[in-house]
Formats: sequence, C-alpha cells, structure tokens
Amino acid sequence: MIGGKKKCIGLIFGGHSNEHEVSISSAKTVFQAFNAQKNKERFTVKAFYINKYGDWLDSDISEKILIGEFKYYKTKKQKIFNQEKINFLEGIEFQNIDVWFPLLHGINGEDGSIHGLIRFTRKPLVGCGIIGSALGMDKILMKTIFSNLKLPQVNYLVFQNEDLNDKQVKNKIIDEILKKLKFPVFVKPSNSGSSLGISKVKNESEILLALEKAREIDPRILIEEGLEVREIECGIIGNSKLLTSEIGEVNYSSEWYDYDSKYHSDNKIIIPAAIDSKIKKEIKEIAIRSCRALNIFGFARVDFFLEKSSNKILLNEINTIPGFTKNSMFPMLWEASGLKIEQLVAKLVDISLDL
Ligand SMILES: Nc1ncnc2c1ncn2[C@@H]1O[C@H](COP(=O)(O)OP(=O)(O)O)[C@@H](O)[C@H]1O
Ligand SMILES: [Mg+2]
Repeated sequence: MIGGKKKCIGLIFGGHSNEHEVSISSAKTVFQAFNAQKNKERFTVKAFYINKYGDWLDSDISEKILIGEFKYYKTKKQKIFNQEKINFLEGIEFQNIDVWFPLLHGINGEDGSIHGLIRFTRKPLVGCGIIGSALGMDKILMKTIFSNLKLPQVNYLVFQNEDLNDKQVKNKIIDEILKKLKFPVFVKPSNSGSSLGISKVKNESEILLALEKAREIDPRILIEEGLEVREIECGIIGNSKLLTSEIGEVNYSSEWYDYDSKYHSDNKIIIPAAIDSKIKKEIKEIAIRSCRALNIFGFARVDFFLEKSSNKILLNEINTIPGFTKNSMFPMLWEASGLKIEQLVAKLVDISLDL
C-alpha cells in the first residue's frame, strides 16, 4: 500500500437512466475486482446504489445488490429527488470516501451530473470532469468539436427541438435528409447510450417514425449517413499522459449493433483486431486527440468505424463511463494490454490521485 491507511472507494451505480441494468452489471464486476486479495490490502469499498427513480439507497442495501442478496427491482418507487427535502442525500454516509468511482452509464450520471455533485464532496473521482462527461454524452456537441478539428467522421445532419407535429417542419426535415444524405441513415437522440432510441432508416417512409422514437429520449436529433462498417474500439486511461490500449473489434450477427446485440447475444470480440499496424497507429492517435479535444481523461473508450469498402477510419464516439461488465470490451482491451481487471481498477484509482 502506498502510504498508510486503506483508501475507501465510493462505488456509485444504478441510476435514473435507461442504462440502469447495465450499470449494475458493471458495478458487480468492479466491486469484485476491488475485493480481489491484492486490492483488499489497499482498498475498502462502499457501495451507493441509486434506484431507477433517482433515490439513493444506503450502503448496506447497495452492497447486497452487488453480491446478489437483494433484488434491486424490489426497491419501491419513491418521489424522484424529494422536493420537500433540501438535502436528498440525508442519511447517506459519504464522509469517509477517499475516491469516488461513478459507474452510472448514460443520462443522470455519465453526462456530468454525478461529476458535478461529487465536486461538492471535494474528493477525487475516477474518470473525467463535468465538461468532458457532458460533451462525451452529447453526440451533437461531440461531433461539432470533432468536425472543427477535421477529425474523420460520417456525414451528418442535426435537428434541434423541431416541432414534429408541424407538417411543414416535417417536410423540411425530410427534404433536407433526401438532399444531403444517402440511405440508409441512422437517426439518433443526441443524448442516450446502448443504442437506445436509435433507428436504422432505409427509405423515406421510415423517417418520421424514427424521428419520433429518437425524440422520446431527446428532442435534439442527429442523423448520420449509414455505412457498411467494421466496429473498432480503443481504450484510454491516464491523466496528464494518456495511454491507449490494444485495439479491439466487435462482430455481431445482427444488422447493426443495437441494444439486443450489445447485451443479449453472442458477440465476438476480437483483440487485437485484425487490421494493419499503420491503421492501428492512426486510430490510437485519433483516440488521444479526440479525448484531449473534449477534455476527457481518467478512462474512456473511443469507438471507430472502419468503412469496409475503403478501409477508411471514421471516429464514431467516446464513452466516458464505458461498460465494465464481464463481457465488456473495455476491461478486455486492458487485459490484452497487460492489465488484469484487478490491476486496472487499482490503476484507475492511482490515476485519479495522480500517483
Ligand atoms: N453512421 C453509421 N453507419 C453505420 N452504422 C452505424 C452508424 N451510426 C451508428 N451505427 C450503428 O449503431 C450503433 C450505435 O450507434 P452509436 O452512435 O455508437 O450509439 P450509442 O451511443 O448508443 O452506442 C453503432 O455501434 C453501429 O452499429
Ligand atoms: Mg456506440
């Protein structure tokens, strides 16, 4: 152990997000990793579960969820952030946390909200700050910054807060898509994750339904030209110096990498990806540049497309709290790069403390 007392890690998971279940799986894996023999000498863990309605549960119940003794879905619905209580964290013991490890995928967490809250505790956290998290979550702003830096991306259009009940507005959107993009197109809510709210649209008649679906999650909508691609991912860890992991590829049997294929089917993860070393080098450089551009550090997974016909690299997105489940790409990439999951979580804490 480096200097004295064990560090207490505050693991925050669950959350008022459509990626709630994934977060629980991620937290289970990280919790186990901190409880590996070697890590037990350096760390203790306190768990903080936020249920689907946004209520924080105490650490005893939270830990029981992580070890499978308590079913999270049985926690009863309460008011979301009880308005009558000024301190909604009342009763939650968080004074003795040395380092926070927020594992809240998606909205109300990964988007920077948890990072803002943690700032008030004046304790470090694993991951990046408010700005990087918010930009990494918002596809429209992320892409705007990438295009400013001329990083390679697919062609896209943005429609923000349009009134889809207005016939003229609908026609204008459809016309613009037909004029500027080729089918298929992907219609995406600007803020979401795990492919939720995304549709692959093959012709004009499917556009409106896809817009409605995206708008249910976010009224700011991104439309991208859909290409035939391989999906390539690269892990990042570090602070003043960013390190890149091995490069991985994910193969799936579905038409695109939708929610079901992400979590319920037998994907094939290939690490290292079978691509030539020049392209790998370029991917790693873009991964670092894109993280720096958005002020992302700590840890992240940068996702790329490799266009099948041209072998062209296109930057897709950065995930600032990547999946940490047993089958997730991020821990696998680091394992292939020489860091077992127990070492990885310890390293992430060291990075947050600048050790
Ligand atoms: N422009 C595109 N061309 C081809 N496939 C795409 C495109 N955009 C998205 N997809 C498919 O949809 C998946 C999810 O899109 P993505 O933007 O990564 O959303 P999320 O943040 O939910 O993961 C991608 O992994 C890919 O399979
Ligand atoms: Mg993605």
